[in-house]
Amino acid sequence: MLPEIYHAHHTMHLEDLPFWLELADMAGDPILELGCGTGRVLLSMAKVGHHCVGLDNDPAMLAYLQQGVGSITPTPLLVVEDMCRFNLHRQFSLVILPCNTFSTLSEAQQLSCLACVYEHLKPGGFFAFSIPNSQVLLSLPARAGVEYEEAFTHPQTGNPVQVSSSYHRTKKLFRLTWYYDELHPDGRVDRFTALAAHYLLPTQAYLDKLRQVGLVVNAQYGDFDRSEFVDESPCLICIASR
Ligand SMILES: C[S@@+](CC[C@H](N)C(=O)[O-])C[C@H]1O[C@@H](n2cnc3c(N)ncnc32)[C@H](O)[C@@H]1O
Repeated sequence: MLPEIYHAHHTMHLEDLPFWLELADMAGDPILELGCGTGRVLLSMAKVGHHCVGLDNDPAMLAYLQQGVGSITPTPLLVVEDMCRFNLHRQFSLVILPCNTFSTLSEAQQLSCLACVYEHLKPGGFFAFSIPNSQVLLSLPARAGVEYEEAFTHPQTGNPVQVSSSYHRTKKLFRLTWYYDELHPDGRVDRFTALAAHYLLPTQAYLDKLRQVGLVVNAQYGDFDRSEFVDESPCLICIASR
């Protein structure tokens, strides 16, 4: 994924930020964000004074984020690591995994990620993730053709970029393809595609894994307004503690 395209697209969607900021204020510092990407969430927390570490396995995403860090203090620390196998030799008051990334890991990877999370939490520290609600994805037709979603301005060229998506769903996996079409003034179109595959596990499977590594499940929400999780909720947001 091109970091500048990812960032321009995803910073159009900031409805989850108040939730993460409130959690950060409640749990305190230091904070570790797994899969921090270009810093959509991390920079928002750092800008209001939180001590943050951002972890991602894509050096290009972190290089883009590093440019955005500028003179923010306290300066966030960025590390290139796999969230399923990391040891930072320190513990955090809060570990977060936002933006639908946890469900892209296989069950074995999820367990190994959670074991790392446990080791990196202070006693009493909190862990939270947000993923799409599998029940809702399972209720959709098995596939959908390309549909227009929205548009943004290319941050470097100033050209419009149209975003569309298609998906293919089985009983176990939801494969989503994003198409980014940059429209040049001479009529040329450059297409970038990005793939994301979400494992469609029951909610209980996530709760069981949290407990399996020794975490205590504190809350499950169905949206970022902290509404109750129900079968029709758009997402599953879990908060657990060590
Ligand atoms: C959907 S983006 C989310 C970025 C950011 N958290 C946000 O809210 O905008 C997912 C990020 O997770 C990273 N990622 C995916 N699998 C990973 C892994 N196994 N270890 C570390 N980072 C990973 C990707 O490189 C990408 O930057």
